[in-house]
Amino acid sequence: MRIPMIAGNWKMNTTVSEAVELVNEMRPGLDEIANVDKVICPPFISLITVRELIKGSSIKLGAQNLYFEAKGAYTGEISPLMLADLCEFVIIGHSERRQYFNETGEIVNKKVKAALRAKLKPILCIGESPEENEAGRTEAVIAGQLRSSLAGIDFAADLIIAYEPIWAIGTGKAATGRQANKTTGFIRQNIAQLYNEDLAQKMRILYGGSVTADNAAEFINQPEIDGALVGGASLKAPQFLSIVKQTSEIKGRL
Ligand code: 13P
Repeated sequence: MRIPMIAGNWKMNTTVSEAVELVNEMRPGLDEIANVDKVICPPFISLITVRELIKGSSIKLGAQNLYFEAKGAYTGEISPLMLADLCEFVIIGHSERRQYFNETGEIVNKKVKAALRAKLKPILCIGESPEENEAGRTEAVIAGQLRSSLAGIDFAADLIIAYEPIWAIGTGKAATGRQANKTTGFIRQNIAQLYNEDLAQKMRILYGGSVTADNAAEFINQPEIDGALVGGASLKAPQFLSIVKQTSEIKGRL
């Protein structure tokens, strides 16, 4: 019932010409794969160029961040209205933004609201730190992040959640499929409590953190996990293609 999704978060990588090269390398293969939402999230400055390159293909576009005001004197920021013209998705609350740019739950909440107002589909990132994980606080942290990120939002149909344990991001130390499935299931239960069971069953929840072509199947095979938010491996066309292809095959069978 839920369409699987693989989203590539390119983070602060690729110049515009490198982005062009990467998209040209991925586009033909990606375009052939059906039944998976294929989303690429390049840096802001490449969005216009990439949008032109993927026109007429089934590849979708996302941004990595936004500011919550619609317009005004906010030097250097990018507004939801600017993005709504260019792309369909926007990553919000990535742990790197929470950690390096002091994004609090309150800011993340404002950003999710602003994205939904502009008809952008937020990919809301949540996940626990290594210390929280070791202290057995994963579920408490996740529940708190969901409550604060979604406060005052009564219509969340377009929302996608990415569970990204911080200890698994860029470390090569991915969660196990079982661990990730358990927390993803917990997230779905929380959505059912915050909203309703119907929305919880419809909402796509992705896993992120050291996903590669070699371990993707372990996550995709889990019933609660609807796809992946891929960092490093999304910068290598053959890896990204392989992850998308495996997703189409595995979810097609389930
Ligand atoms: P890596 O896949 O490089 O671990 O990054 C995951 C991530 O943060 C995606 O948003």
